[in-house]
Formats: sequence, C-alpha cells, structure tokens
Amino acid sequence: MPHLESLIPTIRKLQDIYATLSEQDKIELPQIVVVGTQSAGKSSVIEGIVGMDFLPRGTGIVTRSPLLLHLIHTPIEHPERGQPDPGAFAKFEHLPGEIFTDFDQVRKEIQKRTNVLSGTEKVPINLKIYSNKVIDLSLVDLPGMTKNPVGDQPKDIEEQIEKLIMKYIKNPDSLILTVAAANQDIATVEAIKFAQKVDRDGDRTLCVVTKLDLMDKGTNAMDVLNGLVVPVKKGIIGVVNRSQADIKDEKPMKKCLDDETKFLGKKYPTIAEKHGIKYLSKALNDLLMKHIQERLPKLKERIANLKIMYEEKLRSWGDPINDANGKNKVVSEVITKFREKYVFSIKGKGTSKKNI
Ligand code: GDP
Ligand code: NA
Ligand code: MG
Repeated sequence: MPHLESLIPTIRKLQDIYATLSEQDKIELPQIVVVGTQSAGKSSVIEGIVGMDFLPRGTGIVTRSPLLLHLIHTPIEHPERGQPDPGAFAKFEHLPGEIFTDFDQVRKEIQKRTNVLSGTEKVPINLKIYSNKVIDLSLVDLPGMTKNPVGDQPKDIEEQIEKLIMKYIKNPDSLILTVAAANQDIATVEAIKFAQKVDRDGDRTLCVVTKLDLMDKGTNAMDVLNGLVVPVKKGIIGVVNRSQADIKDEKPMKKCLDDETKFLGKKYPTIAEKHGIKYLSKALNDLLMKHIQERLPKLKERIANLKIMYEEKLRSWGDPINDANGKNKVVSEVITKFREKYVFSIKGKGTSKKNI
C-alpha cells in the first residue's frame, strides 16, 4: 500500500494549481466538519486532535463564525519528543503577513475577530497552523446548534445555524464529526440526526461522546459506546477532554491525555483501547485516507479532462516554439487570430481584411 499520508499535500498542491484557473475547476480538499450543540465539547475535541491549546472554550464562550482550520505539517526537527512543538506558528487570512507564535494570542485573535464579525454568522475565520506535530488536515469548527438566541443573536438563530451546518456537511468531501456529551440524552442527539440526513450510509460520519468523567455516580456510557442506544456505522468513540478546571489550572495537554488513558482503563477496561482522543485521531486519519483513496479515480479523471482542455486551448494558439522560424510562425498566427477576433469587431461590420 502506498504511503497514504503523502496524498494530502499532493492534493493540496493540485488544488493550489487548479484554483488559479477558475471557480468551477477547483478540486475539493477533504475536510472534517465538527457539529454538535453548544458546550458539547466541540472546541475541546478539536484541540485534542490538534494537540494544542489555542481555541476559545468554555460554557460562556460561543463559537459564532465557522473557523476553518488548516493544519500544515512542517518538518522541523527538535529533540523533546512529546512536548508541544516550540517552532509551531499560526497565520490568519484576515491578517496577512502577521505570524503568531504565542497560541494564547491566537485564541485572543479568534475571539476578537468573532466579535468583529458578530451578526454575520456565515463569514468564516481562516486560520493556518504550521507545526511538525500535526498531520495535514482541514477542520471546521461550526457554531453550536442552539434553540435559544444568546446576547445579540437573531431570533431565527437556530434556523440560520442549521442552514450553515447543512452547507458544510452536505459536501460529499466533508467528513462529519458529531460531538455529544455523555450527560446529554444521546438518543435524541440532533447532530447525529443531521449527519444521517446527508450521509445515509454513515460512511463519512464519526461520532464522539465527550464528558465521560461527568456522568452521574453509578451510571456509565457502556450501552452508548457499544452502539446499543444509537447505532452508528463507524462506531462511537468516547473521550474525556480537559475540564474547565484543567483549563483554569493550565494543566498540560500531555497530562490530560495520560489521565484520560487512566480513566478509560479503570472505568471501561474491556473497550478502552477503542476510545480516547488518541484513538479518535487515528480513526479520523484512517477515515480520511480511505476517503481520499476512494475519490482518487474521480480526481484523476477531472485532472485528465482539464489537461485535455488546456492542451487544446494551447494548441489553438499555434504550434510550440522550437526554432527561429517556428517562433515567427507562432507570432504571425497569433497576430492573425488577434485580428480576426478583436480588430474586426472593433471596426464593426463591413470592414474587409484589406483595411487593416
Ligand atoms: P463547545 O461549545 O462545543 O465548543 O464546547 P467547549 O469545548 O467549549 O467545552 C465546553 C465546556 O465543557 C468547557 O468548559 C470544557 O472544559 C468542558 N468540557 C468539554 N469536554 C469535557 C470533558 O470531556 N470533560 C469535562 N470534565 N469537561 C469537558
Ligand atoms: Na462553548
Ligand atoms: Mg466551541
């Protein structure tokens, strides 16, 4: 099997090339779209996948604009394995030329931009993170589904957000990551229902259940995690994210992951290895690679068609320039074509060739 990871940068390069041509020729990059209700733990899950602490989170913090997050693997070697990448940096599309190395500032900028964009829920924030700790991946953090407008949100916010979510998840090149909290009623989770509307076979949907640590004493999520409550084709992955207290205490990411592993091993020993943030990253990666592989024939066909189209266009401007004579030939052909196409139309009807 080919080294699949290398496919993503390849597609990105292709996309860069074809994006310069025209809107309709653009090739979609697979991306992971995260959906769920407010405070379900969407931003926390994204941080866990990225392995970095940079998003505004918390019960009072509301994601209002879609955040388009592009992770770009940058191979900078450094000795401290398991530590955050000290060379990591970030860039925002709305601040060209500005490089962020302090991820607290990244969080502040997202919040600042969210306030600037307030009331224009559909306008996305574009963020690129460069690090040797990430794989090439695009993630979309969407505003949480909500019934009740918060602050100055419009009355029809529920409908607006649902429309926005639909727009992102109906794209067949989107992988859908639904997020629900274990202390919610999973059977009625709207995000899963939404995903099922656009992905009937469930081939591009992964479900995450957060807050396993916050369940009532004496209860557990065994039935949910085993798919007995809501059957999901690709399975349900349980995780424990950083709590609000962990965030306040600035508990390191690595320590949180270790504690999650301990928690799962103790509470869910029989299924622990198929759960947790690390397993989720692996499952996402596998799904992404499989998806790209399935789309490759289509992608190749598209590129082949584009190639034919542009070769024909090129040919219509004359033969390649090989020598001095050939060069003259091309130039005269171009001039002739130019005359036929433009000069006549400028001079209007009735103008004969002799006149120019
Ligand atoms: P979002 O609104 O869906 O993006 O949710 P956030 O990621 O902002 O999380 C909302 C709050 O729940 C934050 O205070 C998080 O620290 C907390 N939280 C999220 N996941 C977990 C979890 O698995 N366990 C615990 N204890 N807290 C969590
Ligand atoms: Na939140
Ligand atoms: Mg959020």
